Amino acid sequence: MSETAKLVYGDKSLEMKVTRGSEDELGVEIGALRAKTGLITLDPGFMNTGSCQSAVTFIDGDKGILRYRGYSIEELAEKSSFLEVSHLLLEGELPTKAQLDTFTSRVKLHTMLHEDVKRFYKGFPKDAHPMAVLSAVCGALSTFYQDSLDIDDPAQVDISTVRLIAKFPTMAACSYKHSIGQPFLYPVNAHDYTSNFLHMMFATPCEGYEVSPVVSKALDLLLILHADHEQNCSTSTVRLVGSSQANLFASISAGVNALWGPLHGGANQAVIEMLDQIESEGLDGRKYLERCKDRNDTTRLMGFGHRVYKNFDPRAKIIKKACGEVLGQLKKQSRLLDIAAELEEVALKDDYFVSRKLYPNVDFYSGIIYKAIGIPVNMFTVLFAMGRLPGWIAHWKEMHKDPATKIGRPRQVYTGATERKYTPIAERK
Ligand code: ACO
Repeated sequence: MSETAKLVYGDKSLEMKVTRGSEDELGVEIGALRAKTGLITLDPGFMNTGSCQSAVTFIDGDKGILRYRGYSIEELAEKSSFLEVSHLLLEGELPTKAQLDTFTSRVKLHTMLHEDVKRFYKGFPKDAHPMAVLSAVCGALSTFYQDSLDIDDPAQVDISTVRLIAKFPTMAACSYKHSIGQPFLYPVNAHDYTSNFLHMMFATPCEGYEVSPVVSKALDLLLILHADHEQNCSTSTVRLVGSSQANLFASISAGVNALWGPLHGGANQAVIEMLDQIESEGLDGRKYLERCKDRNDTTRLMGFGHRVYKNFDPRAKIIKKACGEVLGQLKKQSRLLDIAAELEEVALKDDYFVSRKLYPNVDFYSGIIYKAIGIPVNMFTVLFAMGRLPGWIAHWKEMHKDPATKIGRPRQVYTGATERKYTPIAERK
């Protein structure tokens, strides 16, 4: 039996279909609302607006549940690899051994950058943020791979997907090498995905870099944890840009820019800067929290709070545990981890944070691991982008397969001036 909801406005009423998802989430279909009643919905920040039906990722923010294609994040984090999870997100199923081998070999075939792409880097200032460089180079790929821009040709979408997943670590490492004035390194395909990235980041033409299995495993875990998060700001951006039928490279480049902001992926950099500041200036954690609570102060406790999770972010729990393990295995101490744990402990007992259901999110502890494994702070968000890439592409592909897809084009309630007469410039006061 189909469910409906009824809206009454003045003498008009509208019966609307209610769509039920596989986890019993409900969405009321308001498509006929304006035509039948003259009303539109007004929902700044899309707090309560579903933009699509999606089968990629499920989140229950009240219970702290996250699943990719039905598999819990806890299980994937423990048992899977990033390329396996990428296959899962992109194809909908965990790969067989043969499928994973094929996917891995295809990715390895495309890790090199076109030599002319590398010339782009020389044009950027040395102190350019690597996220700006990554988005620019990613967008530029559409000029180099004009043979695979047709969004309606599955073979072209497939090769663009493999190229993006293969080249992202190379592009990311090049942006870092450029910033420190070192030559770019070629990928070494004998390495696995994350070890290859670490090699390109930290080896030089004169010095090798021995990739520690602890470091590469920690990085792989972080990539898995960031791989998708349903309709977040950057994924919605990728979908919105893609809905205009822009090619995959252009859509992903837009996603990188959306991720960069400190309220989204940029929070991982902001958290470490906050912890560094508390440490270097010897600030009192409790006093810092008072500033975060003060309405007249714009300071926020970075890495805390989430639009969807009103309970623990399950990724934060996994990362916090991994943090202790990685530091232990690397025999490192981290004062920043102590400060973060103290802030968390105090915040979780404070009525301000408790009443607003503000818990640590994925970014609160991730930077401590990145720092421990030697990743420079301005590369943190780039690593987030590397992790989120398969999720962005999975959503882009899902959107194009969905017959309900239309160009994304929200409406507005206009509040500006009503019609006025044009005054010639000489008569304006
Ligand atoms: N520190 C202090 N107060 C906070 C914080 C915080 N980190 N987060 C939310 N609040 C307060 C707000 O001031 C607001 O208080 P009010 O009701 O008295 O006005 C209330 O909690 C609700 O916050 P909103 O900003 O309305 O919640 P929203 O869902 O729009 O924002 C967001 C979510 C952006 C994540 C927010 O919690 C935040 O800014 N957190 C810090 C930045 C961060 O860690 N971002 C990463 C998010 S995870 C990700 O994108 C990967």
